[in-house]
Amino acid sequence: MCGIIGYIGERNASPILFEALRRMEYRGYDSAGIATFDDNFIIKKGIGKISDLDKELNFREMQGTAGMGHTRWATHGGVTKENAHPHWSCRGEVVIVHNGIIENYSGLREFLSSRGHKFTSSTDSEVIAHLLEEAMKNHQDLKSAALSVVASLKGSYAFLAMTRSKPDTIIGARKDVPLIVGIGRGENFLSSDVFGFIDRTNQAIFMDNKEIALVTKDQVEFFDFTGKSISKKPATVAWEVSDFSKKEFLHFTLKEIHEQPLAIRQTLSQEVEAVREFASLILKAKNLFITGCGTSFHAALLMKYLLARKAKIRSEVFLSSEIEHQKYLMDGDSVLLAISQSGETADVLSAVSEAKSRGVKVISIANVMGCSLARESFKTLYTRCGPEIGVAATKSFTSQVALLYLIASEACSDLAMRKFLIESPDYVEQALEFEARVQEIAYKYMNANDFYFVGRGDHYPIALEGALKLKELSYVHAEGMAAGEFKHGTLALIEKGTPVVLMNPPDETYVQTLNNAMELKARGASVIGISTRPNACYDDFLQIPELPTGILYPIVESVPLQMLAYFSSIGRKLDPDYPRNLAKSVTVI
Ligand code: G6P
Repeated sequence: MCGIIGYIGERNASPILFEALRRMEYRGYDSAGIATFDDNFIIKKGIGKISDLDKELNFREMQGTAGMGHTRWATHGGVTKENAHPHWSCRGEVVIVHNGIIENYSGLREFLSSRGHKFTSSTDSEVIAHLLEEAMKNHQDLKSAALSVVASLKGSYAFLAMTRSKPDTIIGARKDVPLIVGIGRGENFLSSDVFGFIDRTNQAIFMDNKEIALVTKDQVEFFDFTGKSISKKPATVAWEVSDFSKKEFLHFTLKEIHEQPLAIRQTLSQEVEAVREFASLILKAKNLFITGCGTSFHAALLMKYLLARKAKIRSEVFLSSEIEHQKYLMDGDSVLLAISQSGETADVLSAVSEAKSRGVKVISIANVMGCSLARESFKTLYTRCGPEIGVAATKSFTSQVALLYLIASEACSDLAMRKFLIESPDYVEQALEFEARVQEIAYKYMNANDFYFVGRGDHYPIALEGALKLKELSYVHAEGMAAGEFKHGTLALIEKGTPVVLMNPPDETYVQTLNNAMELKARGASVIGISTRPNACYDDFLQIPELPTGILYPIVESVPLQMLAYFSSIGRKLDPDYPRNLAKSVTVI
């Protein structure tokens, strides 16, 4: 969703801001803009892709050594040039960019209008600029003006503000939306994610909730919303700028699919003690709950199967967005395991906050260091799969799954499982070798309007994930189902040639799943079997390598599903990296 970047230093700000916005494109956006300060503010913004806007607006020619940029994913107010950020106050004293939602914006707007302020957009964000201009009439210094602004705002926000009277300072404020300060030499940054400044510095200070930063080119001061000073130290970010290139691949999505063997190896290189401690929290829980959204929910569901099967641990899995509507019996004896790649998904954070209010101990799995979820958790394990730029999760999913297996193997002290798990990246590598065949099948079914993905047991969450991937990347309707459930209704939709992808590796689900496939075939379905060897029941066969233990098939069989979705997107001439209407991390509820 919205991306924000601020720069203050000795170099020309606009090319730096422009490149930062391009690196943050993956977050999803519909408009973008940049403001710099050079004697006065210069602001350029518009609708559409940054590179297209640049052709028209020449962002990089803007002068000034301080400024801010923004990519907007519309929530309040349509996709228009006026609603794009940066926004300015009516006397031109203040310029702001904002990520989040100002809940009391209409009351503030009325109040500010009554004081003569004129608004140029229909966004909630614009009130911040006018409020700060108003506050600066009564407060001499930026700190007290900023404090008075945050005291008036309700909702969630990370915003940056610059003022004409003190252009050597950028104000940053955070409440429930991430904001990170990048510390450089003679230059500093403020951004919604480390991608904003990773090409210039790997030293980052993660702001906490209800904090304000005053950032000049050589200094950063932090204080809380009561005005108390806070001392904070930078952390070194492990990601590198090279992680942000597509290398030899056409798309980030394909690169990330191919990175999986390496990503899983990194995931599995956890400190033994940390995994042990995590597993013991799960073992000690009287009631265990697991939650996530989208792909991470599928990892959560898989963990439920795994814990029951291997460690005889009962758990309840729920979609994070459903917590309010499902009256789960959570209390101080419960543990909630929250799973999220970004660690910023609003639904997950709200489930976590609800659980914490009931005394639940929250533990989590995330990929992005310093994310809000980690801040809210008692313990976090990171998947360490590196930055994932493609909007649809690929390597982050298999890394989550690998980490969950590692935790489960610790919880049930299954050394054999752990040994096989360590070898799993080799099998993922072998699964990638069947790419050409997956592409052929994707192209063969290019005209299909509906796809079904079916599997039993721990292949059911993978079937759900296969369907989600296809929907996200190719915009084709797809449904994931438990194989045994198909006959209870959905069978009515099967016509001659309807593609059904069958998760059918040779484990204890094999025969029953094949029987279900026969029912489907008898109604005309075209069965695409994912297995280690062909079967007469399959109309098309997608091979995966034979594994020494059945338990690991969910990791390996995810690979052809991802490639199927990727090539279905390519065949339809779509952009798999940035699917329409979707954002990498959804920070609204
Ligand atoms: C968004 C993305 C999905 C992702 C979901 C959860 O909806 O488009 O691909 O699975 O968020 O993301 P998280 O970062 O919490 O794993």
